[in-house]
Amino acid sequence: GVMRRSYHENVIDHYEKPRNVGSLDAKSKDVGTGLVGAPACGDVMKLQIQVNKDDNKIEKAVFKTFGCGSAIASSSYATEILHGMHLDDAMNIKNKDISEHLKLPPVKLHCSMLAEDAIKAAVKDYRKKADLAD
Ligand code: FES
Ligand code: FES
Repeated sequence: GVMRRSYHENVIDHYEKPRNVGSLDAKSKDVGTGLVGAPACGDVMKLQIQVNKDDNKIEKAVFKTFGCGSAIASSSYATEILHGMHLDDAMNIKNKDISEHLKLPPVKLHCSMLAEDAIKAAVKDYRKKADLAD
């Protein structure tokens, strides 16, 4: 259909076979949760990371997104690249890294921004909890 012709195959692939959909226990001290919304469209994304406290690397990343196909694809791709990544590197992920991979059109750039925001929020949540645990 129209969608298949106008969206890049990477978006379609992540939209149809989203990776790492799920939830982690937000109360666990090893888990950071980012919950963000896009004011423009009302879409909501939850992204969670499970961190190995010994090396600060992300062991697991999962998401749930109530939103458009581009937001689902952005969060799915984000969880893929987060796997095994150091927290400092995760903080440096830019929405451009995601939108370029998915070849998002300009009107869909904010969908990848949602993923960048969710990653940062999850890392901050984890760090806040880790600090409190010290
Ligand atoms: Fe249309 Fe997000 S605003 S799907
Ligand atoms: Fe709003 Fe995609 S997140 S349209």
